[in-house]
Parts: sequence; C-alpha cells; structure tokens
Amino acid sequence: MRGSGFLWGVSTSAYQIEGAVDADGRGRTIWDEFTRNPGAVANGDNGDIACDHYHRWPEDIDLMTKLGVGAYRFSLAWARLLPGGIGQPNEKGIAFYDRLIDGLLERGIDPWICLYHWDLPQALQDRGGWVNRDIAGWYADYAALVAARFGDRARAFATFNEPGVFTLSGYGGGIHAPGIKDSNAMMAAIHNVARAHHAALPVLRATGVPVGVIGAFWPMRGERPDDAGGAMMMDMLFNWACPDAMVTGAYPPTLPMLMGDVIEEADLSAETAGADFIGINHYAPMYIRTNEAGGQELGAPPADVPLSGMGWQIDPPAFTAMLETVAERYPGVPLYVTENGIGLDEPDGDLNDTTRVAYLRDYLGALAEARKRGVDVRGYFAWSLLDNFEWAEGHAKRFGLVRVSPDDLTRRPKQSFHAYRDAIAAGVPSRSTPIGEI
Ligand code: BGC
Repeated sequence: MRGSGFLWGVSTSAYQIEGAVDADGRGRTIWDEFTRNPGAVANGDNGDIACDHYHRWPEDIDLMTKLGVGAYRFSLAWARLLPGGIGQPNEKGIAFYDRLIDGLLERGIDPWICLYHWDLPQALQDRGGWVNRDIAGWYADYAALVAARFGDRARAFATFNEPGVFTLSGYGGGIHAPGIKDSNAMMAAIHNVARAHHAALPVLRATGVPVGVIGAFWPMRGERPDDAGGAMMMDMLFNWACPDAMVTGAYPPTLPMLMGDVIEEADLSAETAGADFIGINHYAPMYIRTNEAGGQELGAPPADVPLSGMGWQIDPPAFTAMLETVAERYPGVPLYVTENGIGLDEPDGDLNDTTRVAYLRDYLGALAEARKRGVDVRGYFAWSLLDNFEWAEGHAKRFGLVRVSPDDLTRRPKQSFHAYRDAIAAGVPSRSTPIGEI
C-alpha cells in the first residue's frame, strides 16, 4: 500500500487464469472435480487450460506494464503450494509464485496476494472442507507457509476472497464447488471461514505486511415489495456475516441464533479480529425473491433497467451508496475496490467493447463521488485483466480488458484496456477522469 497516492490495479484469480492443472505437482482442487459434474458449468467448460497464465505470465506482466497499474491482485492456488492441503510443501509450486512476484517487482508493480479464491484442495474437501472445524488450523498452517515464503515481497495480503459467495453458493445453493446444498453445512462453513481468518491473522501480520478482508458487497433488493424480508436476510448472510466476524469478532445480531450449535464458546473475539483494509468487490444490486418453501433465491431485476451480459443491473449510484455503507460499518479501516467490472457476451474477435468503456467511466465516476463525500477509498482494481474462466458460466461470459482467444490463447487488448490506461494516466479519479472515446 503506497503512501497517500491512489492505487490503480487489476485483479485475477488462480483457478480462473492459471490452467496447467497437472503441472509441477499441483494437487487437485474442488473446482477440478466440480467442473466434471455434468451440467455444473455452462458448455461443460473447465479451468484445465484457462488462460495458461502459468506459462504465459511474462506476457501478462507486459500487459500490466502497458496499462500502467501500480498493483496486481492475484490469488495463490493452495494446492500448488501444498498439494494435499496440509503436509509437505511443493517447491515447484512455490517457485512459480516466486517468479511471478519477482517479475512484478522488477516492473514496479506491487503484488497483492489473496490466499484463497475458492479453489480448496480436494484432499481437504475429502475431510469435510469448510464444514470441518479443523480447517481453521489447516488454513493457519498454509498461511504460515505463505508468510515464510512470500512475506518478504508481498505488499498486501488478503485472507479470503468473498466468503459470502463461496460459502452460500458452494455449501448452500450448490451452484459452485463443492456443490453441496445444505443450510447447516453452509452455516458451519461461514463460521469456520471466520475462525480461519482469526487463526491466520497474527501469522500473516507478523510479516509486517497489511492484511485485509475482501468481501462481495451487493445491495440487496426485494424483487417484489413483500420480498423485503428475504432481501434483509440475504444482506446479513451474504454481505455482512463473514466480514463482521472477521473485522469485529461478532456476527450481525440475529445471526448467531440461526447458526445454532456451530458456534462454540470463545471461537471469535474482538481481540483476535481485525483487518488493515477492506477490499470491496462490487458489481451490481441483487434482487431477491422468497420461494414457496420460505427460502430465498435469486430474483430478476426490474424489466426496464440496463443489464450486463450476466443479467446484472448497471447502477453506478448503487456503487457510491455501497462504498458509503461499508465505510460507515467499519469506521477507520481504509477501503480498496478490489474488483469491479462487467461481464459481456462478446463475439469472438470484437475488441470494440464500448459497453465496458462506458461501465468503467460511470463506475469510476461513482467512486469519485464517494471520495467527494468523504469515503476513504484508496485504490481501484479492475476485474479483470484477461477474459477468463467465469465459474459456473464457464468461458461464455467475458470480463477481460484483454481478449484471450479460445483457439490459441493470444492476448489482444480491447478498447477498454486503452480507456483504463488513459484513466490511470490521468490520475486520481474525479468525475471528469477521461476514459476513452465512446
Ligand atoms: C469473483 C470473481 C468473478 C467475478 C465476476 C466475483 O464474485 O471474485 O472470481 O469472476 O465476481 O463474477
């Protein structure tokens, strides 16, 4: 984290870009297994090759240099470092991240390292994964390895990417790995992720590197007026459960009652909680509907609003409001936008992504508005550098500033790449930050 200057970056994650799933002793992950389930992922896609960033990372650093970013946020594949999740480290996997980190530093780009972006080693899932209370210790041991090997060069650590998404979608809704649909398992996963943050925090902080929490923050709205209660429930579970427990040591007030006996005495406390920054991943408002069984499910946005290719509402003022909400909830903790971007159905070869250019311009304007209102947002990381493997959507939806050809993996900057480069060159976002020609 650099002084008081505004930090510009791009974000990616391991399973979404690395490919090379069998290279150099990497262990299997829950996403390697989940993508094998028929119907789990659009078009039967998987991340076996993805962007082949594992081999093409020098080219990807060249792209970052051309953009002019000051930081690159990426995640470590736990199973590359510890193929069995625990036990013997894999030196070849460690060497890959050494090369990447050194390559970034040579170009003056700060490595922002996230320890967990959803790709749990399958060996740990075989022992219950996030539902097993032992995982807090397994995770702290993994964090100790990361601290020992990369703590000398990381500029920021984040313990988890969006716990609200992988616990709810992976253990509650079953639409992400490991594909479990069980609300008790989901509650246990939420709690064990929070415990893992508490267990790893001192280990990571001992390196002197700032340690943050990254959440997905989506304003929750009822699809119909009587869905307001459901939207509040989702707001609590998805947006606040893990960040509150990680940053303050306490869940939102009504949640412990719903979690039942997964919470044991002295599991979490204000003393062991904390975050040196909050990473905000924001895309859109989410519409919630209550189903016949009384549960919550994804609803549809109103008919007349502009939508991305993901069907998500484009609503820049909601971004300003969410930044203010997070700042009020965690006073005094600096904020960084660690993901923001737009998924589109882009015809092959079309680099003229005017919708993304407009989205970036309007969302950077919304960020500038939040700063004007006094929100302490110190940086912005665009999602994503490359078209990549978009989880259950496979390779069909594209979020990249750079087109990655599905045939030969060639990288070609889109118009949004040039627009973002110009915004970075223009400096701290203001509502008049130029961002290309539309
Ligand atoms: C995740 C990314 C994902 C993006 C777009 C975020 O929830 O962190 O991995 O690609 O949203 O869906």
